[in-house]
Amino acid sequence: MAGAVLIVLAVAAWHLRTPGEEKAAASAGIDSAAFNAEPISPLPPRVVLDADKVALGARLFADVRLSHDDTIACATCHKLDGAGNDGRRTAVGIGGQVGAVNTPTVFNSGFNFCQFWDGRANSLEEQAAGPVHNPAEMGSDWPEVLAKLRRDKDYGAAFTRSYADGLTGANVADAIATFERSLVTPDARFDRYLQGETAALDAREIRGYRLFRELGCASCHQGVNVGGNFHAGLGIFGDFFRDRGKDGPEDQGRFNVTGKEADRHKFRVPSLRNVARTAPYFHDGSVPTLEEAIRLMGRYQLGHELSREEVGLVAAFLSTLTGSYQGRPL
Ligand code: HEC
Ligand code: HEC
Repeated sequence: MAGAVLIVLAVAAWHLRTPGEEKAAASAGIDSAAFNAEPISPLPPRVVLDADKVALGARLFADVRLSHDDTIACATCHKLDGAGNDGRRTAVGIGGQVGAVNTPTVFNSGFNFCQFWDGRANSLEEQAAGPVHNPAEMGSDWPEVLAKLRRDKDYGAAFTRSYADGLTGANVADAIATFERSLVTPDARFDRYLQGETAALDAREIRGYRLFRELGCASCHQGVNVGGNFHAGLGIFGDFFRDRGKDGPEDQGRFNVTGKEADRHKFRVPSLRNVARTAPYFHDGSVPTLEEAIRLMGRYQLGHELSREEVGLVAAFLSTLTGSYQGRPL
């Protein structure tokens, strides 16, 4: 009896996936059991958070005093009136220093299972200390930042109101992380489609979504953030880095975190929400257009040379993942 139930469940689970999804999951070494009928779920319309901490975190996020020379705030690189990124190939920190990796969007980052391209921070709280201490980004440290913030009476009062131990580095990180969890972009046309508003997508966009699933893109880019759930290698069906003739330290991905050979060139699968607005693409910003990113994904992640028509259809679908922040479409 138990055996029969298991077989029924296994068959049911298999039928929920397209053959492309099965193949892609298997070749990428992904446990496809986690995969469900509708691989993508809508963003929640709003998240419930401590309003005082959100307000405090919003101020800190825009405060240049978090950088050594008072020139750069989190919001300098993560533009909230843009797409939560900087639109540059790689980031530019204090003193005009050019970094090695692309600035990801902060929008919806609270839905990613870990932070950074190589996933080296396990939480938004842990992440927030990163740029403050990175010599090529904000070039500071908590003692320096706290000394500056303590001179501001408003901050003292706000921290005392929200935290028993007042103004500390951990609490600055906590307030910023709480604010970041509010950076959600609901109301994407695709979310409205998932919620039953079938006219939210046109026929081409629906074909693009079907193709995205059939090809197997959704075996990696799935869940509420259309990505952000696990790490995957870049170059499963070919050597992306050898083919392009550049394989620098920043290209080693998870290997830089774990030192394990199996983690070389693995990255956290990025979220595709708002992806039509977050060019340039890939961890090093080396891919200028969405169409090129889709083409490379087909070739290196799925072993499939996509036609122009297919690339156009998938791009049309991906553009329906653009949501709104505070009622303003990104
Ligand atoms: C100089 C530009 C710059 C500044 C300033 C900056 N960031 Fe970033 N941010 C980046 C870059 C580049 C990355 C990717 C780094 C990596 O993955 O190694 C990143 C990654 C992130 C991520 C991870 C997103 C993801 O999808 O993995 C979050 C969250 C974030 N930053 C928040 C912040 C906060 C909070 C601050 C201020 C304390 C800040 N950033 C300041 C450039 C910047
Ligand atoms: C095996 C897992 C896997 C599959 C399958 C896969 N991707 Fe990706 N995708 C990734 C990873 C990992 C990256 C990050 C690459 C990098 O940072 O250099 C990525 C990056 C992207 C990006 C760039 C995002 C950004 O913000 O830079 C796009 C767009 C994208 N994928 C779309 C697709 C499409 C469309 C398909 C299907 C044709 C697909 N992916 C299939 C794992 C996958």
